[in-house]
Amino acid sequence: MSERSFTQRGVDTSPHGLILGIETSCDETAAALVDSDGRVRASIVSSQHDIHRRFGGVVPELASRSHIEQIELVVEEALRVGGGTWSGLGAIGVTQGPGLAGALLVGVCYAKSLAYALRLPLVAVNHLDGHIASAWIDSPQFPIPCVLLVVSGGHTHLYHVDRPGSYHLLGRTLDDAAGEAFDKGSQMLGLGYPGGPAIDKLARTGDPEAIAFPRSIIKKGSLDFSFSGLKTALLYDLRRLDPASLLQRQADLAASYQEAIVDVLVQKAFAAVRRCDVSALAVVGGVSANSRLRAVLEQCSAREGIRLGLPPLGYCTDNAAMIAVAGRLALTQGRQSSWELEANPRFELATQ
Ligand code: KG4
Ligand code: ZN
Repeated sequence: MSERSFTQRGVDTSPHGLILGIETSCDETAAALVDSDGRVRASIVSSQHDIHRRFGGVVPELASRSHIEQIELVVEEALRVGGGTWSGLGAIGVTQGPGLAGALLVGVCYAKSLAYALRLPLVAVNHLDGHIASAWIDSPQFPIPCVLLVVSGGHTHLYHVDRPGSYHLLGRTLDDAAGEAFDKGSQMLGLGYPGGPAIDKLARTGDPEAIAFPRSIIKKGSLDFSFSGLKTALLYDLRRLDPASLLQRQADLAASYQEAIVDVLVQKAFAAVRRCDVSALAVVGGVSANSRLRAVLEQCSAREGIRLGLPPLGYCTDNAAMIAVAGRLALTQGRQSSWELEANPRFELATQ
């Protein structure tokens, strides 16, 4: 499609202009409808977990194929649930990256074609901008400045947000992301994929203090993270156990392993809050669904008098409501994408 061949409609900022969000960056095909005032009318997520489970992780080709099969159904379901019509749409927001190239391509091509056919404005959304927006979906008054922790399958990043959309990187993982540590740990424990929810569930029946797993602090004062040592510690522990003892100790191992991840995330997030002298902390991304992380964050925030922002569970892992909300914000700031839009698997979050 060329930019000259077609004119997009102007952005509809009336209350009737619904934004359709589309997300296909990894293993969830998602579509959502959001009002022009930011209220989520529908958020539909079709998960591919059953497809990838037997491979122990996401198989990129299978992910793309499943997105192709699901995308139209998911969009139609979002329209049905949200009470929208094709002609009632005001704009389309789509995840441009980061993510799997083939998976992103499905969403971007679909969004471009739909925007072209319906003469709608199209806006590209960075997946991380989407996760960040998720903390504000149900709490639009959540304060800025704040510290923001993004914890997902590919990211563990701490930012200082001094005004909306302005992110200063304070620290990041030097190796595995927290979600990756959950997924790899789960694989080693024989709990399968996706690892985070599996460890979260089993850990509820285990003792988090049973095994003293290492907490990687890196060096005094550093806000960077490292989870590869923890993974190795689990591996060595498992090598010492025969299959029967492993089964017996599985819940304690899961609880202690989870505790080591949660402990470091919470310690560093609050160290960042103190360093930046802010009174609010937002935590987003798939790992923010972890029940133990949420509980410890709540306890520490209450103790330290810090306002905590956690997305509702449905907006922690990948979804399109966060993409529609971030897209809406971009449109109101005058950003709009051209027909030349392409998927960008390595799309970096713009930082200061
Ligand atoms: O945000 P997300 O859905 O996708 C990415 O952008 O990466 O995050 C997925 C990650 C996976 O590593 C998954 O294991 C982890 O989030 N996750 C969890 C939980 N639910 C999802 N980790 C810990 N506890 C959970 N309940
Ligand atoms: Zn994500």
